[in-house]
Amino acid sequence: MKEAHMDVTGKVIVITGGSGVLGGAMAAHLIQQGAKMVIMGFREESVLAKLKELAVFGGDPLGLAVDVLDENQLKVARKQILDRWGRIDVLINAAGGNLRGATIADDQTIFDLEIKDLKSVLDLNLMGSILPTLVFGKAMTEQKHGSIINISSMAAQQMITRVFGYSLAKAGIDMLTKWMAAEFAMKFGDGVRVNAIAPGFFLGNQNRHLLVNEDGSYTSRGKKIIKNTPMARFGNIDELNGIVQYLASDASSFTTGAVIPVDGGFQIFSGV
Ligand SMILES: NC(=O)c1ccc[n+]([C@@H]2O[C@H](COP(=O)([O-])OP(=O)(O)OC[C@H]3O[C@@H](n4cnc5c(N)ncnc54)[C@H](O)[C@@H]3O)[C@@H](O)[C@H]2O)c1
Repeated sequence: MKEAHMDVTGKVIVITGGSGVLGGAMAAHLIQQGAKMVIMGFREESVLAKLKELAVFGGDPLGLAVDVLDENQLKVARKQILDRWGRIDVLINAAGGNLRGATIADDQTIFDLEIKDLKSVLDLNLMGSILPTLVFGKAMTEQKHGSIINISSMAAQQMITRVFGYSLAKAGIDMLTKWMAAEFAMKFGDGVRVNAIAPGFFLGNQNRHLLVNEDGSYTSRGKKIIKNTPMARFGNIDELNGIVQYLASDASSFTTGAVIPVDGGFQIFSGV
């Protein structure tokens, strides 16, 4: 059911990583709430596949294959969206990922780190949010209205084993959120807001094999996470919809610079 005060009807919403698990689920929800949706992804085939999947919801979403690390491609995309709809109301920075060489397996130490992979993970997760924020945020500051939603992680605030590069990048996302929130508000007025969602543990492509065995039982890492989550379960991806819609809508007009955990209590729990 549509909530009037969290209304996103007619809002032009761009999702980088819209062809992925989290971004795709957010797109499905927001289209059903009446948003005009732009799905971005790295590979054209996966963008087209996602558009096909989303077709059941109507809404005629636009799909664009865009590398978030290529400023020119982002600018071309901005022009295409502005030519079609005349404005950009919301940007969700959901492109991201990890590489094996930027992680430290149980039988490795930090000295096994692969610097090339580390740089790629920092680039994708941090620069891959900074560049779209600058390119689409420019349109928002010009129209004096907009909401940017970054995707942080539990790995941004506490040391979580294995995910070294990813954690550094997501800690950067938290500061990007705070910095841009203040910068936009102080220099362009109170209409453009920047916030982040910090998802706890949701089963996605990138982490499923770390958390669940082929027979459906939890891995030892999966068990540790459940033990440290007061709600004692993983999140369902549709449990991000409420906060995404809140931040995309004008209901959050005085919320900026916030990093909001959606984690079943993981972040506040001492484990005791
Ligand atoms: N799944 C989880 O449990 C979880 C938890 C916390 C945070 N996150 C974060 O949420 C975001 C999305 O995760 P997901 O599980 O949907 O991942 P996913 O692998 O399903 O999707 C990743 C998306 O990023 C896009 N992408 C990758 N490189 C790109 C590039 N250079 N240019 C443009 N797009 C590019 C892909 O096309 C894809 O659409 C990531 O930032 C991830 O770190 C996920």
